[in-house]
Amino acid sequence: MRYRTFGRTGLNVSTVSMGTNRLGEAGVDPSVWPPIVERALELGVNFFDTSISYNEGRSEAILGQVISRWPGPTVIATKGGYAIDYIVSGAQPLRDFTARAILEDIDGQLTRLRRDSIDMYMLHSPSVNILETHDWATAVDILKRQAKIRWFGISTSDHASGIWSIEHGADLLQIEYDLLNPTAEDELLPLAARHNVGIMARTPLARGLLTGKFKAGEAIPADQHWRRPRGDRLQLRLERVEQLRFLERSGQTLAQAALRFVLANPAVHCVVPGARTVQQLESNAPAADAELEGEELRRIEQLHAAWRAQGRW
Ligand SMILES: NC(=O)c1ccc[n+]([C@@H]2O[C@H](COP(=O)([O-])OP(=O)(O)OC[C@H]3O[C@@H](n4cnc5c(N)ncnc54)[C@H](OP(=O)(O)O)[C@@H]3O)[C@@H](O)[C@H]2O)c1
Repeated sequence: MRYRTFGRTGLNVSTVSMGTNRLGEAGVDPSVWPPIVERALELGVNFFDTSISYNEGRSEAILGQVISRWPGPTVIATKGGYAIDYIVSGAQPLRDFTARAILEDIDGQLTRLRRDSIDMYMLHSPSVNILETHDWATAVDILKRQAKIRWFGISTSDHASGIWSIEHGADLLQIEYDLLNPTAEDELLPLAARHNVGIMARTPLARGLLTGKFKAGEAIPADQHWRRPRGDRLQLRLERVEQLRFLERSGQTLAQAALRFVLANPAVHCVVPGARTVQQLESNAPAADAELEGEELRRIEQLHAAWRAQGRW
């Protein structure tokens, strides 16, 4: 595993971190989840991304349970702004970025995570309009003063929300940046680098499409639709995955290449791939141990130029 300093936070994070939106998924034997986190720690992953809203707080709770037993240093990022039970209760509003809601939720998050302080706290994908009109900043000030959160940022809803947040002092961002959509390179990543903002890239496998396990022209089985695009957009993306298959070679899976592409950008500090099984985690983590070759990067650039010309992602 390799590590980078996470921008101005100064925190030392593994370049491959672990996204935990699958932990505690409803209808799955709960005993399958702790071993995935344990294996990540054994492989040198020290940075975990979660949210109050992942599986009604169960993701935070499983992380807290496993990580509190781990003797080494770990870094946790979590998010607020969603109702914890929004999926099961149909809570209205689903999302609430008022200071009142954030302050109400924080102690439960700390309890589930078994921490006195959250290393990185993010608003969960607010729009620029929400950022400009809600009083979330009051809560962030209070929580920083109380040392309940250390560093603040957002997981972006689009590049504009990331740019707005950097210009208004965010310490860190979780952004969308992957082999199928490099548009964060245009403005967002250069701006982040100039401000020394910590950058983690989420969904770096394009929700599993960049593992190459789905084939263009074939439908994804209904039980695996799981937050994946459908219809024309899905087919466009799968056709582009086929064009990227040259990245599969001895010692490199397509998924590892996808993670290495994101890490090749010096403004990025880590990738946040999700894992549903120990095998997926073990297969993805070694992405940290090598880089893409120059010729591979050159061919990727050519493809991105062609896709930009088509104007669709
Ligand atoms: N708005 C936000 O803040 C936001 C939104 C989305 C995600 N996130 C964060 O980003 C993390 C990653 O997102 P994500 O999990 O949706 O997308 P991802 O990392 O692009 O894809 C991960 C999914 O791909 C499949 N997979 C992973 N490794 C594989 C392998 N080696 N072989 C085959 N399949 C593999 C698994 O799903 P299957 O086994 O079901 O195919 C896994 O759940 C989340 O856990 C979360 O922490 C944040």
